[in-house]
Amino acid sequence: MRTVEALLLSLTLCLGGGQADNGASTKPNIIIILIDDMGINDVSFHGSNQILTPNIDALAYNGVILNRHYVPNLCTPSRATLLTGKYPIHTGMQHFVIINDEPWGLPLSERLMPEFFRDAGYSTQLIGKWHLGFWRKDMTPTLRGFDHHFGYYNGYIDYYDHSNHMLNRNFSKGVDFRRDLDPWPAANGSYATDVFTAEAKRVIQDHDTSRPLFMVLSHLAVHTGNEDNPMQAPEEEVAKFGHIQNQKRRTYAGMVSSLDKSVGETMQALADRNMLNNSIILLYSDNGAPTVGIHSNAGSNYPFRGQKESPWEGGIRSAGALWSPLLKERSYVSNQVIHAIDWLPTLAAAAEVPLPPNLKLDGVNLWPSLSTNGEPQPRRLLHVMDDVFGYSSYMRDNLKYVNGSSFQGQYDSWLGDLDESEDDPFSSFYVQHVLSSKVHEVLGSAALTNERITELRAEATQRCPPNQQNYTEPIYVCEPLKAPCFFNLDKDPCERYNLANIYPLQLQLLEQEVEQFRQSALPSARVPRSDERCDPVLHGGYWQWWNATILPNSGVAKQTLPLWSFVYSILALSLIYVQF
Ligand SMILES: *[C@@H]1O[C@H](CO)[C@@H](O)[C@H](O)[C@H]1NC(C)=O
Ligand SMILES: *[C@@H]1O[C@H](CO)[C@@H](O)[C@H](O)[C@H]1NC(C)=O
Ligand SMILES: *[C@@H]1O[C@H](CO)[C@@H](O)[C@H](O)[C@H]1NC(C)=O
Ligand SMILES: *[C@@H]1O[C@H](CO)[C@@H](O)[C@H](O)[C@H]1NC(C)=O
Ligand SMILES: *[C@@H]1O[C@H](CO)[C@@H](O)[C@H](O)[C@H]1NC(C)=O
Ligand SMILES: *[C@@H]1O[C@H](CO)[C@@H](O)[C@H](O)[C@H]1NC(C)=O
Repeated sequence: MRTVEALLLSLTLCLGGGQADNGASTKPNIIIILIDDMGINDVSFHGSNQILTPNIDALAYNGVILNRHYVPNLCTPSRATLLTGKYPIHTGMQHFVIINDEPWGLPLSERLMPEFFRDAGYSTQLIGKWHLGFWRKDMTPTLRGFDHHFGYYNGYIDYYDHSNHMLNRNFSKGVDFRRDLDPWPAANGSYATDVFTAEAKRVIQDHDTSRPLFMVLSHLAVHTGNEDNPMQAPEEEVAKFGHIQNQKRRTYAGMVSSLDKSVGETMQALADRNMLNNSIILLYSDNGAPTVGIHSNAGSNYPFRGQKESPWEGGIRSAGALWSPLLKERSYVSNQVIHAIDWLPTLAAAAEVPLPPNLKLDGVNLWPSLSTNGEPQPRRLLHVMDDVFGYSSYMRDNLKYVNGSSFQGQYDSWLGDLDESEDDPFSSFYVQHVLSSKVHEVLGSAALTNERITELRAEATQRCPPNQQNYTEPIYVCEPLKAPCFFNLDKDPCERYNLANIYPLQLQLLEQEVEQFRQSALPSARVPRSDERCDPVLHGGYWQWWNATILPNSGVAKQTLPLWSFVYSILALSLIYVQF
């Protein structure tokens, strides 16, 4: 009897953590909408009039515009950072992305954000992209803290048949789409953004509101699809962008606009379940857009320098917005420097989800500051440290240090400038557009006047001083492949004036700080080896974990095969010889 009572008591205590008397959850729902490869200049709240994103903008204007939001410059490191609260150098994830056939992933020794939220009573859901390793089954999302996963393991898939085809290897084309651990062919033919949105709505509709919800909606959009058909959007969406001449950019606009619709529908679903009044919504892009080059989608990070997988602001400054009724101050532009390392401690603090004290997080809890529009705190951020490719990028407050570059410096310039003659004709009614969006309809703060929207938009629009002739003077020129550079982002957010030649002592200090970070770096966890056991033909036409897969003619047998066949041929030949 006593033990039963004790059991019941501890059960009540356990469940009590997340519940109010009426059975409704008291912990806030956490919804993270993660966008893939979208440029900071591709949402209209940062001032662009070419692709209007009224739903995303309404979320930003009703909440907090994260105007100095930083992320690692590539998919895998960026996602590892979000889920661990640590720099990629502290998890071994700093070098490149996980290629389908490489046997590695986010080390199993790391505990992830969904595990902490699940332990605190949350239902934990991942919809869409993973890209943190799948060669072992225990590296896949439902074995790493997510109760449910619906989506794909690799970097990208075809938007319609959800296959991933590695053209540079001889693997068969494989479908990369699952519901939990099971292959999921049922969505074949449907546009990925819509499929993920429908699943998000289903999760929200079926959610047991006596528990809090932790959902990461990790879109394929606006990453490219397979290399032989990279740009994919529904025709009716692309048709809205007749004002854009470049066909690639026009299709990209259709991808962005489908995504914007998705944000509207997801927010509507939360509103329909009365969940919004106790939710935190975070939306951001995992890294800057690849304007040109590998997997380029014609996205724009302009006026910032560089692009995805570069050390520049264009690769690491990400469009982001935060909304919640729990924020004491809303409808403002935050100039607090915030990084993906900060979301784990920040969201956990906001939801009073306990984190183990020995986690060695790199991020800090910025909720108090974001919630009150507090004075921006000074930060030191390591943006990139890839000692295999040999480049790094670091920031102390407004001083930005760059050493080396990616792709031999090919993408070091200012890419993706948009032509004003290609503005959306509806942009003259921009504010009305935002106010009549689905998201504004469900969040609709009356305090958000036309004037306030215009003000917020102007404040979140980055204009760099026009190119003054002096920026090409040798003393200011940055050649990061030859020597490190540094910039004052406060005065020079577009990284034009290298100050290294003028302030050599300051440069030295920055170098020492980077060197300190290097002392704490783990070796890269990447295993840059192609493991042919991943071939989908061995797994029923699907991409699947393969660590226990045995090749049909494998191992010892395979290595000795040439020798045996050689001996056999000799024997056969001699038999033939003897016969005749
Ligand atoms: C494969 O990974 C599983 C976990 O998913 C592990 O238990 C097993 O030992 C591994 N097998 C081999 C052959 O590496
Ligand atoms: C793929 O197969 C072709 C033809 O057999 C061969 O020439 C090529 O080297 C192979 N590529 C790889 C990456 O194995
Ligand atoms: C998906 O549908 C297309 C068109 O019906 C079909 O050709 C293709 O084989 C399907 N793919 C899979 C993996 O079932
Ligand atoms: C949110 O709204 C629901 C339904 O109106 C209500 O039961 C709940 O108490 C509200 N929660 C908060 C935190 O206001
Ligand atoms: C470049 O020249 C302009 C005047 O043309 C001046 O205002 C600006 O401060 C100069 N920039 C630097 C970094 O010297
Ligand atoms: C800058 O790059 C050079 C060349 O790769 C390297 O030797 C040096 O250690 C780097 N400096 C820092 C502080 O990272």
